[in-house]
This record gives sequence, C-alpha cells and structure tokens, in this order.
Amino acid sequence: MTTTNGAFSQAELIEHAKSARERAYIPYSGFAVGSALLDAAGQLYYGCNVENAAYGPTNCAERTALFRAVADGVPRGAFQAIAVVADTEGPCTPCGICRQVMSELCPPDMPVIMSNLKGEMKVMTVEELLPGAFVLKGAGE
Ligand code: THU
Repeated sequence: MTTTNGAFSQAELIEHAKSARERAYIPYSGFAVGSALLDAAGQLYYGCNVENAAYGPTNCAERTALFRAVADGVPRGAFQAIAVVADTEGPCTPCGICRQVMSELCPPDMPVIMSNLKGEMKVMTVEELLPGAFVLKGAGE
C-alpha cells in the first residue's frame, strides 16, 4: 500500500506508475514497467515487474499491483482504474496473463491507462483488452 489516498486524474496515475517503475527488479530483461492501481475507496497500489533467474516466476507490474491490493483486502470488482508505463514505442499494453487477471478482478468497464515515457497515452477498458475472457461461474463468491 502507498500512503497516497484520494482522487486522481489519468495523468496523475501515470506519474505514480512512473515512480513505481523506478523500483522494477529487472536483472534479466532490463525492461522496467510500472503500474498504479486505484481502488474504489481511492487508495493507490503500486506495482513493478519483479523478475527471477528461473524466468517463469517473473511477475508483471500490473499483476504485482493487483495481487498487492487483494492481499491488502480489496474485494473483487472494487477497482477504479489502472495505469501502466514503460519505455515503449507506443503506449505499453498489458500481456495476456495480466489481461486475464484484470478480467477476473476488475470491472469490465474499468479503464486501463496505457502510456510510455514519451507521454503517449491510450485508454481501453478491461473488456476491450480481453473480449470473451475466461471466467468461472461463481468466481469471487
Ligand atoms: N512486463 C510487465 O511488467 N508488464 C507488461 O505489460 C509487459 C511485460 C514485464 C515482464 C518482464 O519482466 C519484462 O516486462 C519483459 O517482458
């Protein structure tokens, strides 16, 4: 959890994602990603990618923030927005695994704010990023 709490513009969420990006643990790819996740209560959760020598355990920035929020007690669906930033050509788009996790935990119409260090930005909803996501009946109950 961060100490920051309140209302955030999309531009402010991107700035928070940039500061989270500075803490990425990236000895293998050298590719730093940051995310900032806003819950329904206005609490902000930071995420960065955390890599591993075995590669497979690597966790993306988006999932780091989501799992952190869940561990801190945020219920399924109680999220307002997530921003993701990396040093990419266009706005950084979430990987397929992160899209699946967002589909499970976030509202389908929640904005995913994708950006890069050049200040380019694209916003799509969770459902637009993964139409027809696999969701088990009774998930979250
Ligand atoms: N990565 C993220 O953290 N988020 C994304 O949206 C794309 C990929 C990370 C995983 C890995 O640590 C590095 O970027 C290179 O794939």
